Amino acid sequence: MSNTRSILITSALPYANGPIHLGHMLEHIQTDVWVRFQKSRGHQCIAVCADDTHGTAVMLRAEKENKTPEELIAGISEEHQKDFRDFQVEYDNYYSTHSEENKTLSHYIYNQCKEKGHIASRSIKQAFDPEKNLFLADRFIKGTCPKCKAEDQYGDNCEVCSATYAPADLINPKSAISGATPIEKESEHFFFKLPDFTGMLKTWTRSGALQDSVANKLAEWLDSGLQEWDISRDAPYFGFEIPGEPGKYFYVWLDAPIGYMSSFKNLCDRTEGLEFDTFWKEGSDTELYHNIGKDIINFHALFWPAMLECAGFRKPTGVWAHGYVTVNGEKMSKSRGTFIKAETYLKHLPAQALRYYYAAKLNSTVGDLDLNLDDFVQRVNSDLVNKFVNIASRTAKFIQNGAGVLSAQLDDQEMYDNFVAKGDEIADLYERREFSQAMREIMALADIANAYIHENAPWQLVKTEGSEEKVQAVCTQALNMFKVLITYLSPVLPETAQDSIEFLNVENLNWDTVATPLLSHKINEFKPMINRIDGKTVAKLVEASKEDVAAELGKKPEKESNKDKASKKSKKKDMGPPAVIEFDDFAKIDLRVAKVIEANHVEGADKLLQLTLDVGEEKTKNVFSGIKSHYQPEELVGKNLVFVYNLAPRKMKFGMSEGMVLAAGEKKDLWILESNEDAKPGTKIS
Ligand code: MSP
Ligand code: ZN
Repeated sequence: MSNTRSILITSALPYANGPIHLGHMLEHIQTDVWVRFQKSRGHQCIAVCADDTHGTAVMLRAEKENKTPEELIAGISEEHQKDFRDFQVEYDNYYSTHSEENKTLSHYIYNQCKEKGHIASRSIKQAFDPEKNLFLADRFIKGTCPKCKAEDQYGDNCEVCSATYAPADLINPKSAISGATPIEKESEHFFFKLPDFTGMLKTWTRSGALQDSVANKLAEWLDSGLQEWDISRDAPYFGFEIPGEPGKYFYVWLDAPIGYMSSFKNLCDRTEGLEFDTFWKEGSDTELYHNIGKDIINFHALFWPAMLECAGFRKPTGVWAHGYVTVNGEKMSKSRGTFIKAETYLKHLPAQALRYYYAAKLNSTVGDLDLNLDDFVQRVNSDLVNKFVNIASRTAKFIQNGAGVLSAQLDDQEMYDNFVAKGDEIADLYERREFSQAMREIMALADIANAYIHENAPWQLVKTEGSEEKVQAVCTQALNMFKVLITYLSPVLPETAQDSIEFLNVENLNWDTVATPLLSHKINEFKPMINRIDGKTVAKLVEASKEDVAAELGKKPEKESNKDKASKKSKKKDMGPPAVIEFDDFAKIDLRVAKVIEANHVEGADKLLQLTLDVGEEKTKNVFSGIKSHYQPEELVGKNLVFVYNLAPRKMKFGMSEGMVLAAGEKKDLWILESNEDAKPGTKIS
């Protein structure tokens, strides 16, 4: 092909402190489908990944298991790679961030940043475990919630009352590692001066590399000013020591994305003709994509391009964020058995089923994806078994006793041409990561094929004398349509594609072979390709997942699931502002103009004012608002405010509050938001 593209794509590097679960699998399947699609179009598409091995969590877990961190991560890497292989997710290289290549590149990039004046250092105060001699990240401190007094809460938020606070606010704080009372200790930290790159990032984030919703969210951060990024951690830490700074280590997130480069570097070093610079040098015209979850956008779309720019490397062509997998509409939960490990899934169900289901629901947005277990069973059976495989299973047996030679002509050339013609549209959908739409188009073709078979009923026709030729032509037609469909589906169903290659007795199923039907061609015996799945098996999987959790922890699952939630939350916090939301999420908030009819002090309340609001309805709304220290009741009357109309009413000591008015700022500086005075009360704000 003359217009062959050269593409390098990565998936986020899974942490080496836990197993691969079905949440991770979404990302790896999404990457793999796209890669297989590109390859089937004849492009060069290289996929690399690695384990993300550094950090305190790995260090502590290794200690607990009486292993060196190196031993721990070697074992985990084996497990991760087996999971991916078993899901037919193929990486050209699966490496580790704890590698020589990664150390060299991390040093190089850091030194470049330092030479160019983008590294600062200063002393900061942090909680320190005097027994373990370890600085404590927020999630390693526990204590009593300062607000609701619940015990055993994590350092940055309370699981019971949802309050957020600084670890220093905890009552009776303890190190979650040793139980010792943390002390405050000063230490020198190194910072990457991200604000130096604001201008470049403003341009790059709008260059088309990001989804629009992501670019919009980042624009807010860029406009409100970036912060310097703390890239160092003190010993003991499992990671790379910072050159020239004994006892100081790179924070895991500094060397993690560099792991993409080092995995590729490692591949180049043992692959003839593959050049590192072709893909990474500034000005390179190859394509580079990072497929990631929405929780790690800022690392990939702010820090990472800045580091690359600084060290003279190219920036990504695209950073693609996907949403989170939920199961039955809720966050994956250890106690409910919906925190499903890849390995456990495969003990019960085929990889193809999950690959198809994810593809059937994936698109190019950051929206979450629900794995609804009932729908999963239904969808896989109805699409893959009843619609797709059925085309072959109902017709193959009539080709001269099942393994004969196809007719010399199609029965309906026009219908076949229509199947072929759909290829461009389907290819375009794969290209744009609109997999769900691609699956819909393919299944619509399967419907046409099935209707055709049904109409011609070869099983009837064989009984009619003199119809042999027609039977052969009809089944040849059906099997050729099957071949087109499995070609379109092969990125999603590599195993079924392989089975079909054997059955159809062809070399491959590349896109450019669909235009030529198989005629006068010997096929092999048809063997069942995809089995039905059933609800009972899925129920067993859920049970087994509960047992996994219990076995792993030797503790009550509920307790651990709380902890899990807490560490997830604190992780989110570590990662800066909340992830982007879809427009649909925003649209859930019903905002309206409300005119203040009356405003009064509330007896016994030192922060509240009571507002009576006209929202364009017969009945007014009563709202208590914490704005007393900023506004006199008289100044509010007659003002048009911004009102959250559909907020659940809240019972307060002084009465019912039926909604909320919006204000900017908090505490010292607060301004109530006003709408134009001409707007009619009740007008929708959007
Ligand atoms: N180690 C970092 C990534 C470093 S990349 C230079 C990390 N690891 S992770 O194991 O927590 O997550 C790996 C990827 O899986 C991330 O893209 C994350 O968003 C994704 N997912 C983790 N749980 C997920 C779901 N429940 N659903 C979808 N994706 C999920 O972050
Ligand atoms: Zn609390």
